[in-house]
Amino acid sequence: SMGLTQDPNFQKLQDWYTAHALNLNIRHMFEADKERFNKLSLTLKTEDGDILLDYSKNLITDEVMKMLVDLAKSRGIEAAREKMFKGDKINFTEGRAVLHVALRNRSNTPIMVDGKDVMPDVNKVLEKMKGFCHRVRSGEWKGYTGKAITDVVNVGIGGSDLGPLMVTEALKPYSKDGPRVWFVSNIDGTHIAKTLAQLNAETTLFIVASKTFTTQETITNAESAKAWFLEHAKDKAAVAKHFVALSTNGPKVKDFGIDTENMFEFWDWVGGRFSLWSAIGMSIALHIGFDNFENFSSPPNAPVLLALLGIWYINFFHAETHAMLPYDQYMHRFTAYFQQGDMESNGKYITNHGARVNYHTGPIVWGEPGTNGQHAFYQLIHQGTRMVPSDFLIPAQSQHPIRDNLHHKILLANFLAQTEALMKGKTTEEARKELEASGLSGEALEKILPHKVIIFFVAILIILSYFIAMYEHKIFIQGVMWEINSFDQWGVELGKQLAKKIEPELKDAAEVHSHDSSTNGLINFLKKNFA
Ligand code: F6P
Repeated sequence: SMGLTQDPNFQKLQDWYTAHALNLNIRHMFEADKERFNKLSLTLKTEDGDILLDYSKNLITDEVMKMLVDLAKSRGIEAAREKMFKGDKINFTEGRAVLHVALRNRSNTPIMVDGKDVMPDVNKVLEKMKGFCHRVRSGEWKGYTGKAITDVVNVGIGGSDLGPLMVTEALKPYSKDGPRVWFVSNIDGTHIAKTLAQLNAETTLFIVASKTFTTQETITNAESAKAWFLEHAKDKAAVAKHFVALSTNGPKVKDFGIDTENMFEFWDWVGGRFSLWSAIGMSIALHIGFDNFENFSSPPNAPVLLALLGIWYINFFHAETHAMLPYDQYMHRFTAYFQQGDMESNGKYITNHGARVNYHTGPIVWGEPGTNGQHAFYQLIHQGTRMVPSDFLIPAQSQHPIRDNLHHKILLANFLAQTEALMKGKTTEEARKELEASGLSGEALEKILPHKVIIFFVAILIILSYFIAMYEHKIFIQGVMWEINSFDQWGVELGKQLAKKIEPELKDAAEVHSHDSSTNGLINFLKKNFA
């Protein structure tokens, strides 16, 4: 196939960019077209209220959008989407289908992998989760001394941690009758030690979440949790009441000592970073209740738009990063979640044909919730030398309208002010006048930051699930357009392999010479100092 940059639709955009991009002026475009907001925004209807997506504050025209859509079509995103839903092995480097969409398939239309409908298995596991959730939440499930479970610890990392962590945080208001949830991911012993110090073994349930059940951090943390538990329970038979597993790997779960009765299965066609609707979502279901968990699923919408704007900034303006800025404390892990979702999926330079790309792929995704970010890194966004396309997200309503909604009004005002300021900048003339009036001198603010504004009701079930599906599909579409496999992660493997090699070298005091001089120097310094 012809590469992205050879596509005539890409070249059309490139020509347009060269001729016009430097003259794009958002202020002028708003002045020239009173309908700009109406044309370049859309409202998504959900059961939990509307979501407004305003992308008018971007460096685009109708013509550019049309050319981008043509590019998406000629890149074959429709056929690629069909292949995904049909269960084709589009993750071809691992020989796997990519069907996290089946987990949200509440209509139960058959979805086939290798000639077999996966829906009966999906539903069977959901049923099993439902029963388990009910028993834990009702107090029917008892710990080894006959007490109900008060605390649940999810032991997992990457996709087996970030999704459940992000969602349980975002949906805290639903957690009323559920157990507390804790997340241990880091191999740094501080993480598990500080967590366990706050828990009572009699009333704690450990969920060992690992697709492969071979991830070093997770298995080591789970073993440490088991050792801690046995110090208290002093009875191996008690483990079955306090440890369950979420995995695709039955034999390894058994080796670890977890009864496969207490294993909740998923399948190789669920990618780790797309797994929160699988059994990996167990801590979510326990925290907010199974019915809420089940309602937390929805069809995707508007992802093409997000994908195309990303292509425009990355491949034409050469923007290197993408900021996700949720003005919602409950969504404080949203950016971290999609940092993995996006960067582990599209951080790749080899195309599906084995060639090296001659264009940029996935951006560096970063961000923090507002208004904290404003007091930290917005200066660079406003006046730095780089373009930072950003997504601003905010709920229209606060779940804590304290002091007559004072906090939320200030939050809203800041959100609106930032998005307006970034759109308008300040002309030199305006800056000069202001400074003269105040008797000060300083620098002008002229830079314009392209950004999307997303306003939603509150980040409750359906709305949050929309956002997740929307960004998941955005990542997929971009991967198709860049001709990369968004569903493998070979790059992560190198570090894992090297760690495996170094670990035994740390066992004794002997000097190490097997690496380059820098790595040898670091190892030998650590050996002298960490005993
Ligand atoms: O190291 C990357 C990764 O493979 C992620 O893709 C995955 O989410 C994470 O590790 C955890 O993997 P597992 O669920 O198999 O423990």
